[in-house]
Amino acid sequence: MKVVVLTGAGISAESGLPTFRDADGLWEGHDPMVVATPESFAADPDLVHRFYDQRRAALARVEPNAAHRALAQLEERLGDRLLLVTQNVDDLHERAGSRRVVHMHGRLRSAWCTACDARHAWTDPLGDRPPCPGCGEAALRPDVVWFGEVPREMERIERALWECDLFVAIGTSGVVYPAAAFVHYASGRGTRTLELNLDASEASSDFAEHRRGPATRLVPAWVEELLAGDLREQE
Ligand code: OAD
Repeated sequence: MKVVVLTGAGISAESGLPTFRDADGLWEGHDPMVVATPESFAADPDLVHRFYDQRRAALARVEPNAAHRALAQLEERLGDRLLLVTQNVDDLHERAGSRRVVHMHGRLRSAWCTACDARHAWTDPLGDRPPCPGCGEAALRPDVVWFGEVPREMERIERALWECDLFVAIGTSGVVYPAAAFVHYASGRGTRTLELNLDASEASSDFAEHRRGPATRLVPAWVEELLAGDLREQE
């Protein structure tokens, strides 16, 4: 039994990280969707750095929750039969113990040098323009995917979607592509599809099954069910 799980901001909400489209959706009066673009970075790098520096600093104040931990437990059991794809730039999946995580929108705790193309683990601010540890140029940017840029590891994700028996989306609004289309790849091949979300999303009607509620309740219950029942039958 091969499983692909896609997570979005909703899985980290109960850890204390705000989602993109809930609440008033504004950051310092700006639409985060407008801040997260290469054009914004070119026009106002201080603003974009401040946005990501605040979000990177917030990671030090939060912990993984029961939903992250349940997915790590699922990986322990399924090993390479599970691929966890996240749109989140936080590191809560890794801190909960997941190892096979694809960060299709990049990672906050990484800096990317636009001069030498190297990537470096990074927990400090970038707004004060620190030099790249590799080449010394003050050319580091957040290692995240902005609107208009290409998401990471798409070939690996598409291959896993092609091969899986079950596709599960957790805590994502289903409005940002290409992630929003993964359910179509999967359901087009007759793969079972399940959405676990607080409420109905834009993509809900594309899923065969839905469960509504907070991720910290839904995800551990679903993982327990899968480990107890489905797996035994299909192994
Ligand atoms: P959104 O903020 O668009 O959606 C979060 C979803 O999580 C919503 O459908 C909520 O109902 C749901 N939700 C909120 N709290 C929840 C909880 N406790 N348990 C379960 N579900 C909950 O976030 P994403 O779908 O992740 O991209 O956004 C996708 C992309 O848009 C992001 O990766 C980011 C953003 O622009 C880039 O920055 C490129």
